[in-house]
Formats: sequence, structure tokens, C-alpha cells
Amino acid sequence: MTSSAPTVALVGATGAAGSTVLRVLEDRRFPLRELRTLASPRSVGSTVTFRGEELPVAVVEASRLHGCDIVFFAAGSATSKEYAPLVAAGGGVAVDKSSYFRMDPAVPLVVPEVNGERVREHRGIIANPNCVAIPLAVALAPLHRAFGLRHLTVATYQAASGAGRNLVAELAVQEQDDAAGRVPSNDFYPHVLHRNVIPGGWRMYGDDTEEEVKVTQEVRRLLELPELGVGITTVRVPVAVAHAAAVWVELETDADPATARRILESAPGVRVLDDPATQAYPTPREVAGSDEVHIGRIRRDPSREHGLALFVVADNLRKGAATNAVQVAELVLEGRR
Ligand code: A2P
Repeated sequence: MTSSAPTVALVGATGAAGSTVLRVLEDRRFPLRELRTLASPRSVGSTVTFRGEELPVAVVEASRLHGCDIVFFAAGSATSKEYAPLVAAGGGVAVDKSSYFRMDPAVPLVVPEVNGERVREHRGIIANPNCVAIPLAVALAPLHRAFGLRHLTVATYQAASGAGRNLVAELAVQEQDDAAGRVPSNDFYPHVLHRNVIPGGWRMYGDDTEEEVKVTQEVRRLLELPELGVGITTVRVPVAVAHAAAVWVELETDADPATARRILESAPGVRVLDDPATQAYPTPREVAGSDEVHIGRIRRDPSREHGLALFVVADNLRKGAATNAVQVAELVLEGRR
């Protein structure tokens, strides 16, 4: 990799997460010599807006990745599987949002606030964790360091955009149908999401959703707690952007809520909003568009020893995907100076 501004490609530039990568690159003034915006043949002829310009979208193919210093992948596992190794072989770095490489021991799984030093171990591919695993790790790492994490229970409230722009579009149509008194239909998701709460929609692994398996495995890997007991139910809710999670932890030592709050307030990437008496706690509507992990409702869980409960909300497209990927790329660039 050269030391001047990098040549960058974005695979999946037209998607929910990919288009957010464009916004985050703008917001963080990411240094660029060239940006190649790539997607599938369906997008040929379309453009995306970046720094006030219309950039044409080209089909991802090996020749277009050639010479890239950094390639962001936000187009699903099959595309990452095929092209990320080519980027690595060519001397570039693939920052992959898909789940394909996340549990590969040869590929670092990185959240900069939690284990940013792992970036240095890359061999051309770095995995970006799942959009629930990232905020959980950001919230739990400081508590684990201070008190020791013994057990984790999670119930999620996940936004439609986590399933991609198709579900966001389907939800919007269902909202119009309900408002007009028409019976909403669903093509993309297994149930109508509008006015609903759905504890599924992911592929199943036995009795668990793929999402439950991913979050469990990735949180264990990020916190370096391979044996951590995790109970989790993942649920889709009719929200466009920002995932929420009700979280209960059992700690090794007693953590009074005031101390836990203070620790979280000074933790990197965290914003605490916790005054329920004045209805102050994070909600997806207010958190959407921000880069921090927001935490509220920090209180004792008296049902278990050293138990603490909290409510965690993060923008799944930004910190849950794009922001984390761009932060990882910034660490890669820092490392080559
Ligand atoms: P396209 O717009 O051409 O279909 P989302 O997660 O919001 O559904 O977006 C998925 C992103 O991944 C889109 O940018 C989509 O491009 C892209 N994509 C999906 N399949 C492929 C593929 N086989 N090759 C390249 N890009 C793909």
C-alpha cells in the first residue's frame, strides 16, 4: 500500500449499508485518491451521490478491484467470499460487512473501541461484526473490564434496514396500505412487519435464528470470552433505522448502577442518556443518524447475583455497519504511516 491518499472501492454502493458508507466517508473526510462505486449488474446505468458529485455505479469485477488499497464490502456473503480474497492477494485490504469471514480465526473481527489493536493482525481481510454484536460489545467491554462479565441475556428490537432496503420499502408500502384501509401484503419478509413484532425472519439453525447464533459467537469473540453464557431472542420491529436491545448482565463482582453509569459515561463510543424520571433514555427515532452507542435504563437486576439491566440503542447502518467499517479503515491507514 502506498502512503498517499488511498484508492478505495465500495461494493454494494446502492444498498442500505453501502449508501451509508458514502455518507460516513463524507462526514469523516476520509482521504481518497479515487472512489470506485460498485454493485450488481442490476445497477448499471445508475449513479450514487458523493461529495456533491454523481458517481456512476459499475459492476463488481476483479479488474475494478485491481490497484485498490481499501475495499469496503456491503453486498452479502457470496460477493465477499468471491472478491475479498482477490483484494487481499493484490495487496489491498478488504473491510467486510458480511458474516462470511467473521469466525475465521485468520481474519480479525474488529470494533475499534473494543479491540482496535487487532487490526494489525490482518492478512488482507478484516471482518466487521454484526449490527447487534457491535453495540453490545461497545457497551459490555467497559463493564467486563471493571466487574467481569459472567452471563448475558438479550432481547433485541431490530429495525427493518438491518434486512436491507427491500424490507424498508416493504414496510413503507404496508404503512400506506394500513392507513388507506387496504390489507397489507408481504413479499420480502415472512410476515407483515407494519403494526407487528416478529421474532424471526432469519434463517434458522435448529431452534435459533441465524442472528442469535451470530450475535452470541461474535460477542464472545470480541470480548475474548469463548465460554460466556448467552441467552438471546432477536426480534424485528417496524422501525426503519436503529436497533435496540434490552440487556441483562450477571457480573463477577457487585456493580452499583451509579458506578456502572460513570464507567459507561467515560467509555469510548458511548453516550449515556439515563434519567427515566424525566423520560430520558435512548430510542431508535432519536438515535438514528448518530455514531455512538446510546445506553439508558441502567439499574440493578435484583433477580440475580451482581445483576445489572440496561437498554442499548445504536444506528444499525452507521455504528452497526458503515461507521465501524470506516473507523477500521482509518486504523488501517494509520498503521501504514
Ligand atoms: P444492486 O443494487 O445492484 O442490487 P441491501 O443490503 O440494502 O439489500 O443492498 C445490497 C447491496 O449489495 C446492493 O448495493 C446490491 O446491488 C449489492 N449486491 C447484491 N448482490 C450483488 C452481487 N451479486 N454483486 C454485486 N453487488 C451485489
